Amino acid sequence: MTIVSIWCRHKGDNVIGAGLGLPWKIASDTRRFRNLTEGQVKVMGGRTYSGMPQKVLMGRKVIVLDNTGKTELFDAQNHILVSDINQLKDYSEDLYVSGGAFVYYLFFSTPALMPDVVVDCVYGGPIDDGAQNLVDVSASVAILEQKYQALPQRFELDGVVTTVWLKKGDFVEQSTVKKILNYLETEGK
Ligand SMILES: NC(=O)c1ccc[n+]([C@@H]2O[C@H](COP(=O)([O-])OP(=O)(O)OC[C@H]3O[C@@H](n4cnc5c(N)ncnc54)[C@H](OP(=O)(O)O)[C@@H]3O)[C@@H](O)[C@H]2O)c1
Repeated sequence: MTIVSIWCRHKGDNVIGAGLGLPWKIASDTRRFRNLTEGQVKVMGGRTYSGMPQKVLMGRKVIVLDNTGKTELFDAQNHILVSDINQLKDYSEDLYVSGGAFVYYLFFSTPALMPDVVVDCVYGGPIDDGAQNLVDVSASVAILEQKYQALPQRFELDGVVTTVWLKKGDFVEQSTVKKILNYLETEGK
């Protein structure tokens, strides 16, 4: 199993969200997320799941992490609820960790489930005026900077610079990395 984590964080403060939504609207970023996670099992927290448009997740495999039991699944055939991250340790398929901050940190801080690959998109533009209840991934970024190594390639599109990081000292499935880099090299062209 390869674990890939993907986020778009704001440069400087590592903000990724406001309330249940995003404090920016960047079509190419939404498209990147959709394309890189296409056909893959996504893992997300209950808040991210509730805040995403249902049509984006309908018919796609999603694992919702929620230890409160509050989340209601809207596609019972394809979505499952998991209350304890440890249940994913022997999962048979690759996992694409899709947020939010709580869930990213759960993965980064659980040794057996630390992401192998991180698609680190950093947005340098302004966040929406009046955005409230900001959510940030600084705790996960601190682990990223310590335990991961950035590949040299930088991809820039619409004010977002994307870098791929690999966990230091571990074998990482090259076909997964290649697929991600191939997509990033060609997007927007
Ligand atoms: N920019 C990006 O790449 C990106 C990607 C994904 C998500 N996001 C943003 O991230 C935000 C959501 O992230 P999040 O960290 O708030 O939630 P989350 O990771 O999506 O969900 C956390 C889940 O864990 C539960 N939980 C239990 N204890 C918790 C605790 N101490 N803190 C937080 N959750 C706890 C929550 O239940 P309760 O709901 O009952 O608290 C919820 O079901 C949204 O703004 C979303 O738009 C951004």
